[in-house]
Amino acid sequence: MTRVLELDGLSKVYHPETPELSVRAVDRVSFAVEAGESLAIIGPSGCGKSTLLQVLGCLDRPTSGRYLLGGRDVAGLGDDELALVRNVHVGFVFQSFHLLPRLSAVENVELPLLYRATVDDTRALALDALARVGLAQRARHLPSELSGGQRQRVAIARALVTRPSMLLCDEPTGALDSRTGEEVLALLSQLHDEGATIVMVTHDLSVARALQRAMWMKDGRIEDDGPSERVVAAFAAAHAREAS
Ligand SMILES: Nc1ncnc2c1ncn2[C@@H]1O[C@H](COP(=O)(O)OP(=O)(O)OP(=O)(O)O)[C@@H](O)[C@H]1O
Ligand SMILES: [Mg+2]
Repeated sequence: MTRVLELDGLSKVYHPETPELSVRAVDRVSFAVEAGESLAIIGPSGCGKSTLLQVLGCLDRPTSGRYLLGGRDVAGLGDDELALVRNVHVGFVFQSFHLLPRLSAVENVELPLLYRATVDDTRALALDALARVGLAQRARHLPSELSGGQRQRVAIARALVTRPSMLLCDEPTGALDSRTGEEVLALLSQLHDEGATIVMVTHDLSVARALQRAMWMKDGRIEDDGPSERVVAAFAAAHAREAS
């Protein structure tokens, strides 16, 4: 199997120089993700899920430890190199879509390709990606002319268009009603069946259960990691105990 990423003793500390502000959001975490896996990251608010996802997506750097992405240590890269690695390896899907409001659906999807000098027919690739998420008919529409679920599908097309090594999703169904959320989840699960590697932060345990593997974070550390059925059940049981 191809290893997409590997973390070894990775920590992320906010404000490491200022003791009274300092927060160890991710604390000596080690794990690996193989190509084709689908991994849910669960845990209580503030446990470090989004911070970890940002480090995985090269939006932020670890404070210490090792991060190998596509076999390459990214911890010491400069800003430009980091942006390049991100563009090649990572497709992001956020809760609030992050589409540019003045660009049409196809222009939004095309955007990550415009940073690549080597790609010629960016428009055709963007249209292909929109077709994959079932939105070929909406290519010229602005985000404001689309439903929430359609906007998230455009965002997924934008994440896919560069053929990244993995999709990183932070609460991708969090802003959607339950039926639309299920549609978006079905699309992600179809992409996973077609070979995509997915790492998803979610509060929704039924969403986490739909992925193969789950990682439970607590205070910046990994409390449990394994088949999603087992880990989600253990997490739910621990929280039921806390609540009672
Ligand atoms: N930019 C920042 N500066 C300082 N501390 C931060 C910053 N961003 C996050 N934190 C802190 O780091 C910890 C982890 O935050 P993070 O956003 O990763 O949690 P989370 O698990 O995603 O929570 P939620 O489920 O509420 O989204 C929290 O204690 C948070 O207050
Ligand atoms: Mg978060």
